[in-house]
Amino acid sequence: MELLSPFFKSLGLRYPIFQGGMAWVADGKLAAAVSNAGGMGIIGSGHAPADVVRHEIEVAKSLTKRPFGINVMLLSPHVKEVIEVILAEKDSIALVTTGAGNPSEYLAAFQQAGIRVIPVVPSTGMARIMEREGVDAVIAEGMESGGHIGRMTTMALVPQVVDAVDIPVIAAGGIGDGRGLAASMMLGAQGVQMGTRFLVAEECHIHPLYKEAVLKAKDIDTLVTGQYIGHPARVLKNKMATHYIRNEKGEAQNDNPDYAAVEELGNGSLRRAVQTGDPEQGAYMAGEISGLVNKIQPASEILQEVTDQAAALLGGQEN
Ligand SMILES: Cc1cc2nc3c(=O)[nH]c(=O)nc-3n(C[C@H](O)[C@H](O)[C@H](O)COP(=O)(O)O)c2cc1C
Repeated sequence: MELLSPFFKSLGLRYPIFQGGMAWVADGKLAAAVSNAGGMGIIGSGHAPADVVRHEIEVAKSLTKRPFGINVMLLSPHVKEVIEVILAEKDSIALVTTGAGNPSEYLAAFQQAGIRVIPVVPSTGMARIMEREGVDAVIAEGMESGGHIGRMTTMALVPQVVDAVDIPVIAAGGIGDGRGLAASMMLGAQGVQMGTRFLVAEECHIHPLYKEAVLKAKDIDTLVTGQYIGHPARVLKNKMATHYIRNEKGEAQNDNPDYAAVEELGNGSLRRAVQTGDPEQGAYMAGEISGLVNKIQPASEILQEVTDQAAALLGGQEN
């Protein structure tokens, strides 16, 4: 059963799967592993300064000749310098995905450089605006996902975005196996972006404590921080997350949020989780699908397994 739409074929992929450009997590090595296997590897630039991003692009270039992309985190204080780096590397970068906001002001620069742009959208309204501005596709991401989230679920969002726009739609949020890929295609998406499943790829360098927490997590083990102060983000339950939520709700001081504590805990918390694994200070960002992510595998095996299962289901065969 052919799962690749003309759009995915035009990207030079073997699988209709993007690996999410996760801040501090998705480095040049992970992106190259996914791209070498035939998926779309995407480097997460997150809040990293431009020289770090340049280095990760060099790493990816040294490890793969296949197309890879880069995610621009619109909340980053370094967003403008990071975009300069990407434009300078336009011949090596197949596409840019954008997260956490509206990329309108940067689109013309990417389009003039001939780089495809695929924004993450949380609503039909944003999808329509992006289509009008000439983006190549959109990623409709539901709030089941790990990291920063919108308010809609994938199941409700994806078909509505598919109906709202004529450009390709990629589904994200809560997709962890071939059932998720097949379901996304039934909703009208042409492919999927997965983040949480790739957290446990062999080539993913996150701290072993973080990886182990994803492997052990059950369905109800995520929390959303930033619902009261800042930006909502889905993380695994740990000391850091419960402490953060207690402070933002102001539970320790008569419903008065402790802004200082929240800021101190929040700053660099994903980076701390990735690099030190510290459950007291680190945010283990991961999605609700963590409960079915329970084995470490090479990225190539993840891509193959998910696609085979989806093809069998969509082809109407027993899996
Ligand atoms: C640790 C982590 C960090 C992430 N960082 C970013 C980011 O910097 N930019 C972005 O657009 N999406 C980010 N995401 C979202 C992923 O790219 C992807 O869309 C999401 O993980 C899909 O949902 P899933 O986790 O249920 O697979 C992140 C997700 C995780 C788990």
